[in-house]
Amino acid sequence: MLTLHPAAPADHEALTAFLRGVDLTLSGLDSPSVRLWVERDADGAIAATTGFELSADGHDALIRSVAVRKDRRRAGAGSALARHAVERAAACGARRAWLFSRRSGPFWRKLGFGPADRRELARRLPDTYQVRLFTETGQLDREVAWCRPLP
Ligand SMILES: CC(C)(COP(=O)(O)OP(=O)(O)OC[C@H]1O[C@@H](n2cnc3c(N)ncnc32)[C@H](O)[C@@H]1OP(=O)(O)O)[C@@H](O)C(=O)NCCC(=O)NCCS
Repeated sequence: MLTLHPAAPADHEALTAFLRGVDLTLSGLDSPSVRLWVERDADGAIAATTGFELSADGHDALIRSVAVRKDRRRAGAGSALARHAVERAAACGARRAWLFSRRSGPFWRKLGFGPADRRELARRLPDTYQVRLFTETGQLDREVAWCRPLP
């Protein structure tokens, strides 16, 4: 059972270390425009995270920072975390959810995402931290984009 709580400034250091450990983007983690949630174990260690960032017009959401600690994987937690971010983005009025994922395409397909044009993602979400970082570093051309409509 997931007990997610919104990431607070006190989570920042542990959250950064956790996402570094699973090789996900670290930029924008302390920005109020990036909505993040964390789940901690009874001993206080971060077990999972999820989040999203909206476009300026609110129509598009970039899902990001969906991660489960290795010892908790393959038990449905990742799907629950992804659904949490998607549902919260939809509740904020977003019409489409987008994300970058080079390694976990089959996971996202099971959640209704399909392959998307990375350039269209960048056009619709130009101000998000991931798009700015990937554009500046040239990594955008190596990224794989995914998208799904929101109800
Ligand atoms: C991707 C990730 C969040 C999945 O978490 P999880 O808790 O293992 O996911 P679930 O247990 O909900 O898996 C759901 C389904 O996707 C499948 N799946 C999970 N990860 C997969 C992967 N990397 N490749 C292929 N299939 C995968 C599972 O087998 C499962 O299928 P099933 O329902 O038929 O058994 C986790 O592997 C992770 O944290 N990876 C590192 C961070 C990352 O890459 N995040 C995504 C980019 S934001």
